[in-house]
Amino acid sequence: SKSELKEAEKFSIKEVRIVTRNIGLIDPRNIDEYIARDGYFALSKALQMKPEEVINEVKKSGLRGRGGAGFPTGLKWEFTAKANAEQKYIVCNADEGEPGTFKDRLIMEGDPHTVIEAMIIAGYAVGATKGYIYIRGEYYNSVENLKKAIKDAYEYGFLGENILGSGFDFDLTVRLGAGAYVCGEETALLESIEGKSGRPRLKPPYPPQSGLFGKPTVINNVETLANVPQIILNGAEWFKNIGTPNSPGTKVFCLAGDINKRGMVELPMGVTVRQVLYGFGGGIKGDKGLKMIQTGGLAGTFIGPDKLDAPLDYDSMKNYGVSLGSGVILAIDDTHCAVDIALNVMEFFRHESCGKCTPCREGTRIACDILEKMTKFQATEEDLKYLEQIAYVTADASFCGLGQSINVPLLSLINNFKNEFEAHVKDKTCSAGLCKEVKPK
Ligand code: NAI
Repeated sequence: SKSELKEAEKFSIKEVRIVTRNIGLIDPRNIDEYIARDGYFALSKALQMKPEEVINEVKKSGLRGRGGAGFPTGLKWEFTAKANAEQKYIVCNADEGEPGTFKDRLIMEGDPHTVIEAMIIAGYAVGATKGYIYIRGEYYNSVENLKKAIKDAYEYGFLGENILGSGFDFDLTVRLGAGAYVCGEETALLESIEGKSGRPRLKPPYPPQSGLFGKPTVINNVETLANVPQIILNGAEWFKNIGTPNSPGTKVFCLAGDINKRGMVELPMGVTVRQVLYGFGGGIKGDKGLKMIQTGGLAGTFIGPDKLDAPLDYDSMKNYGVSLGSGVILAIDDTHCAVDIALNVMEFFRHESCGKCTPCREGTRIACDILEKMTKFQATEEDLKYLEQIAYVTADASFCGLGQSINVPLLSLINNFKNEFEAHVKDKTCSAGLCKEVKPK
């Protein structure tokens, strides 16, 4: 509508394309087109630097993990470089499983060489000679494009022995996941590459000390890696000038849900939810109102329109209760019910729980049972209190990040939409008109 477009103009800001710089501009299956846009120049530059200089540049840039957790990348590399071992590994976590997140897929489909180049640079920096890209099996085009790119990189001498005459060797292999969300958790991912069932390991030790096959390992997300060649080419100072002091650079946001323009956009860290949603997403579809926004993925937060002006960076959770996570901005219009959404979220976690630890396996099941009762107007106020307790206990006692994060979406929904939860248990009403009374059998 005209008013939506006006709204969009008001909040528009400019894209800054670092990790998406080649997407749509080059043929991802043609290595020459990548080289024509400075491809593999960063590798050539890095190979002329000392490994510790490469690490220092990444450290100085302030690059942090774009999978969601924001751990400093340079520090990971430094830990791995300092670990004493004959064999070390670089692993790219391309098992993008967070609902609403599709940025890594589009990066790998549109510019696979960027990821490959970054992994070779990481290998040189930390002394690793072998790399694995662990990728979702469903990402057919990404797998095809990566495999073609790896084959071409070998042919051009960017992979294999004595890369560009430097004496450095690096081999790269693609491994496919088989549809388990938990395999994106880095230690479950390592187990899976090792041929075991994808269940998480206890941390510490962290992968830089003991990772793949027990050897020091760097594990970085696709988007994190895609920043590296540009940082090496343009320098840490250039990178630090983009974004915010504590969260330098850009973030790729995935726009999803009841939104006019779905898709992916790369913006400087620190943009507000409103700027992403209206400036790029064009606002809410149809003539509906905005009810809530889910930020950071299903493991992230559900916020109301009152938080639209929260800036998105690694401090937004601490300062505004708004998660950045993997960069999802999923808009939900006012025809939806908060309790029904909570049930949907918990069903996802229940399904994806690997069952290894009781708190996650049982906590997600109990949460689903209570929420289902709420949607049938069978739950009591006691049940609502119990649901909150379950969220805390599951988060506190679970073995890995999957169970540990369920309190974030669940409590953000309960806290931000308390009235709706209470209406379901006290008044037995649903303002969206979606839930109906079902008599217990
Ligand atoms: P985490 O905070 O435990 O670890 C983050 C990274 O920092 C890991 O690589 C870890 O090894 C490293 N690290 C932490 N402390 C370290 C230390 N002392 N020494 C060396 N390395 C250290 O978080 P986790 O569980 O790895 O990831 C959670 C995040 O994953 C959430 O923020 C969530 O948004 C995101 N996520 C993303 C998904 C996606 O598809 N992109 C799917 C599910 C969750």
